[in-house]
Amino acid sequence: MLAVAMLTVVLVAGLPGLHAAAPADSPGDAARGATLFSQRCAICHTVAGRGGKIGPDLTRVAGRAAASGGFAYSSALKKLAWKWTPANLDTFLKSPAKVAPGTMMPVLVANPDDRKAIIAYLSAQQR
Ligand code: HEC
Repeated sequence: MLAVAMLTVVLVAGLPGLHAAAPADSPGDAARGATLFSQRCAICHTVAGRGGKIGPDLTRVAGRAAASGGFAYSSALKKLAWKWTPANLDTFLKSPAKVAPGTMMPVLVANPDDRKAIIAYLSAQQR
């Protein structure tokens, strides 16, 4: 019982340190995500009418089915039978080629905090 209590103390004490940088879906995440998106994604992807047309429009991508954004998608992406939940976006952005071998989406985001920030930004683009 004492061991359990101590473990709890350690876990609780450890949390602020672990999460100090970026609580999930905080406005700070989305703001940083906007910068990352403009640096790494906007050359190919539009959001809210701004950005390039080499890739699909990512406005409202969060929650929609993969390859459903009115774009000439590869068969690799069309085969991806899932919705763009935050978890699926995270898996995809970590390694698009692994998730959908043959995809034309050439960019991966290796840093988990960067992925989280970009996903928070994309999730906020619902208009
Ligand atoms: C050089 C151009 C290019 C860049 C840069 C790029 N993408 Fe893509 N992206 C594409 C293309 C092309 C596709 C369509 C892939 C296919 O059909 O296989 C795509 C597909 C996607 C999809 C799936 C969309 C859907 O409608 O199913 C997501 C999500 C995505 N990209 C996110 C990102 C993010 C986030 C970044 C920045 C970190 C990024 N992309 C950078 C070209 C790009």
